[in-house]
Amino acid sequence: MKDIVAIYPGSFDPVTNGHLDLIHRGSKLFDKLIVAIARNLDKGESLFSMEERKEMLVAMTSQLDNVCIDVFDGLLVSYCIQKNANAVLRGIRAISDYEFELQMALMNRKMEPRVETVFMMPAEQYSYLSSRIVREIAKLGGPLNGLVPEMVEQRVRQRIKQGRHISATGKHLL
Ligand code: PNS
Repeated sequence: MKDIVAIYPGSFDPVTNGHLDLIHRGSKLFDKLIVAIARNLDKGESLFSMEERKEMLVAMTSQLDNVCIDVFDGLLVSYCIQKNANAVLRGIRAISDYEFELQMALMNRKMEPRVETVFMMPAEQYSYLSSRIVREIAKLGGPLNGLVPEMVEQRVRQRIKQGRHISATGKHLL
């Protein structure tokens, strides 16, 4: 059987327990899993820089030998070809995710038929979890236990306390 290299793309601002659940599942299924942070200029204000997001992901996945962390620019399918990847891994939490994920998977397949999208479900307790909701709860002083790893919670709290939200272009807004 040929080696399956999969890319797990996302914003990871910040990495959540739901992302980590999917990374663990993916690392068991694929020969190699590249977690790829998208440099997405459309998303506006972000909490962490690309380097910080990468740092947290590296720390949280260091025990998984077949997982590595990278940052990519431009089209996901071009990055897949560059990395010799044959699959894209995406998580589907609820039916509301499906429409957007279907559109993205089909568009990616139209642009690059050699790359298949594989959907996996995170554990049920993470089905309502997203980075956006983590950022919002943190900004409003709510509890983050069980949503992100302790190290990430500390970094989020520290960042909110500093009031240093940065834009996607890396500019500090506050
Ligand atoms: O964590 P997110 O924000 O849901 O991830 C979305 C992401 C990064 C996977 C998506 O925006 C993406 O693939 N961006 C790269 C640019 C691209 O290829 N766009 C065309 C998608 S059809």
